[in-house]
Amino acid sequence: MTSAEFLHRPVMFEEVMAVFAPLEAGTFVDGTLGGGGHSQGLLERGAQRRVLGLDRDPSAIEAASRRLSGYTARFMALHKEFDELDEALAQACQSNTQFCGAPTGLLLDLGVSSPQLERGERGFSYRLEGPLDMRMDPTKGQSLAEFLDQVGLEELASLLRSNGEPRFAYRIAKAIMAGRPYASTTELAEVVKLAIPAAARRTGGHPATRVFQALRIRVNNELERLEMALVKAFKLLRPGGRIAVLSYHSGEDSIVKSLFREQVTGGCTCPSRYGCVCGAVPKASYVVRSKAPSVGEIEENPRSRSARLRAIEILEVDEPVERFGNG
Ligand SMILES: C[S@@+](CC[C@H](N)C(=O)[O-])C[C@H]1O[C@@H](n2cnc3c(N)ncnc32)[C@H](O)[C@@H]1O
Repeated sequence: MTSAEFLHRPVMFEEVMAVFAPLEAGTFVDGTLGGGGHSQGLLERGAQRRVLGLDRDPSAIEAASRRLSGYTARFMALHKEFDELDEALAQACQSNTQFCGAPTGLLLDLGVSSPQLERGERGFSYRLEGPLDMRMDPTKGQSLAEFLDQVGLEELASLLRSNGEPRFAYRIAKAIMAGRPYASTTELAEVVKLAIPAAARRTGGHPATRVFQALRIRVNNELERLEMALVKAFKLLRPGGRIAVLSYHSGEDSIVKSLFREQVTGGCTCPSRYGCVCGAVPKASYVVRSKAPSVGEIEENPRSRSARLRAIEILEVDEPVERFGNG
C-alpha cells in the first residue's frame, strides 16, 4: 500500500500538537503510528525532536515510513506493540544513539485507522465482505474466526455486555453461537442484526457497530495492552515529559482516566473536602483533563465524534524512580 492509499485523517491534530508544544526537543514515542499524520506534525513543529513510531500493523509501518522518508535522521519506525515501549526504546537506541535516554513524550491514538476499516480483507468492517480476522497485526495471534470457534456463550455475552452492548448482549451472543461457523463479516453482521427485536433495529444505527467493536477489542487485547503501556510510560518518561491519549471507547477512556488520576493524586483517596492528609505524593499534573473534538471537526470527519483527549505531565519526585537510560 502506498502512503497516498493509506489515507487517515489525524484526529484532534491541533489539540495534540498543543499538548507537546512546550517540549521543543527530545524523543517522542508515537505508539500508534498509523498513517504517520501526528508523527509528521511532531517532526515538522520541532527541528530538535526525534520520533520513534510504533505500530502493530506492518502495513502502517510501511506507509508511514514512506510518508516520513524525508526525516530519516530524526524518525524511526518499528513493528512493535505499544506496550513493548521499553524494548522498542532499547532497540532504537542500539541502532541510533540519538534515541538513547528517557523519552520526552508519548502519544497513543487508540483504535483502528481508516485504511484498516476500509479494507474488507482485514475483517474489521461489518459493511464490507471479508474474512473473520480483525487482527491489527495479521502476522500473529488469534483471528476472530478462531476466537469465535472456542469461546463459550457466557463469556461472549459478558464481553458484549461490558463493551458497549448492554441491552441485547445475551440474545446476540446466543445467535452468534448458533450461527457458527461464518463465511464472512457481512454474514456475521446479518445474524447480529436479526438477533435484535425489530423495534430496536430502527434506532441507534447498525447494531453490528458496537458488537464488531467489542469483538475487535477482545481479539486485539486492546484494554490490557493500553494499561500495560501506560504503567510502563509513567516510569520511562523523563520528568517534564508528557503523555497524551486519544481514546474512542468508554472502556479505553475509563482506563486512561483512572490511571492518570492515580498519578495526579499520587494514589490519595482522602475525602476531597479535607484535602489530602495521607502524605500521598503527586507524580503528574493534568495538561488536558478531558477534551472532545470541535463541532467543526466532527462535521468534517465523523469518525472523530467519539474521541476523547487526555494528557498529563510527569513531575519530578524525590523518591527513586527507575527510568530508562540516563537522559
Ligand atoms: C487511529 S490509528 C493512528 C493514526 C495516526 N495517529 C495517524 O495520524 O495516522 C491507530 C493505529 O494504532 C495501531 N495500534 C493499535 N493498537 C496498537 C498497539 N497495542 N500497539 C501498536 N500499535 C497499535 C493500529 O494498528 C493503527 O495503525
